[in-house]
Amino acid sequence: MEFATIKGFKDILPEETPYWQETEATARRMFQLSGFQEIRTPLIEATELFSRSIGEETDIVSKEMYSFQDSKGRGLSLRPEATASVVRAYIQNRLYQQDPVQKLFTIGPMFRHERPQKGRFRQFHQINAEFFGDPGPKSDAEIIVLAESLFHTLGLKDLTLRVNSLGCPTCRPDFRAELQIYLQDREESLCSDCRRRSRTNPLRVLDCKVPGCRETVADAPLILDVLCDDCRRHLEGLQEYLDLSGVKYTPAPRLVRGLDYYSRTTFEFQTERLGAQNAVAGGGRYDGLVKQLGGPDLPAIGFAVGAERLITLLQELRPCPAGKPDLFMAALGDAAEKACFGWAAALRRAGLWAEIGYGAKGLKAQMKKADKLGVSTALILGEQEMADGQAILRDMQSGQQETIGTRDIVPMLLKRITENPASPA
Ligand code: HAM
Repeated sequence: MEFATIKGFKDILPEETPYWQETEATARRMFQLSGFQEIRTPLIEATELFSRSIGEETDIVSKEMYSFQDSKGRGLSLRPEATASVVRAYIQNRLYQQDPVQKLFTIGPMFRHERPQKGRFRQFHQINAEFFGDPGPKSDAEIIVLAESLFHTLGLKDLTLRVNSLGCPTCRPDFRAELQIYLQDREESLCSDCRRRSRTNPLRVLDCKVPGCRETVADAPLILDVLCDDCRRHLEGLQEYLDLSGVKYTPAPRLVRGLDYYSRTTFEFQTERLGAQNAVAGGGRYDGLVKQLGGPDLPAIGFAVGAERLITLLQELRPCPAGKPDLFMAALGDAAEKACFGWAAALRRAGLWAEIGYGAKGLKAQMKKADKLGVSTALILGEQEMADGQAILRDMQSGQQETIGTRDIVPMLLKRITENPASPA
């Protein structure tokens, strides 16, 4: 094999794409029902957009971005996530001038140079929602309920929603300092990454999966104990709204996220069925980011679902949701093939899925193909039928056949199939 996909990248093949189409169509429907509008931003942005929003010290920016220089020496990166780009677009296009409250969604590929493993790719896809202009906690709840209803509608009902608050610029610095002292006193029991993190980004240590680090943070101070009054009220308000909407959640005082722009509410939807990559979706509030990137001082909250992880769970849950043709046309001989070709074109124009046999020679082979496609009705046209101005309709399940005239066959097939799509025409 001369060429193959590069490591961490994969083809999404036809046997899998129906899951993708179903997921994306359901997401679009759920967004529409909550008044979210679609936005599409470029895959490449200035590197600085990501480093300034996600944070220089995060793994994403310090290790995982696909960055390069263009011919003019400008630093560019493939987007590792969508939030920074959507915030940039919100500011650049002054979307806030029409109304600061904007509900936007975007679906598409992201790129992170991580070590590939189950549920982790270098190109992956996110279903992303951003809600601008409302300080919450009602909008926090709306965002979380929206993600939950997407999972629920798709049939994933066993995800755990973990919710935390990361505090705000009033209360987080004290917590960060307290945590840093705690970690520095125990530096020798931390992994080498966390030793570095304890200096640069101590909250990330709370999230480390290395057993030694987990043990060390088990008794670490909790941010929930030091939240300021406003943050505490915000969290209580969110919990009240979640209770109102019947969405179950687990308080997760050690939940931190791999991006620095968050304040107050953070959350993840997790599963036990994907091994180490247990987060199917994650999100939170990022009240300072719009201002930090040069826009007005407006709050925001959002989430992103990892489409590959979601679809892996769907594949375990149920068979591929692929559709079936409405009609299979088996033509034998040149004249019959041409007649079927014309009828198929007319049926398709009228909105029916009509398959014509390719590759399979002979009636038996064509019927086998029709069976494989799962069609309920096949039209058989041989030389004799052509000569008689007739065709055979076969019920693929019972094997029953009926002879029909070919005069006005297109409207007749249309009528019979649309009136009774699952049974013989
Ligand atoms: P994130 O937690 O970095 O958040 O990513 C969100 C989701 O994307 C994860 O929960 C996971 O399902 C999926 N994901 C991340 N990395 C990979 C990967 N390498 N392979 C497969 N799936 C992956 C964000 O990106 C934020 N922008 C979410 C957000 C939106 N916060 C506010 N608004």
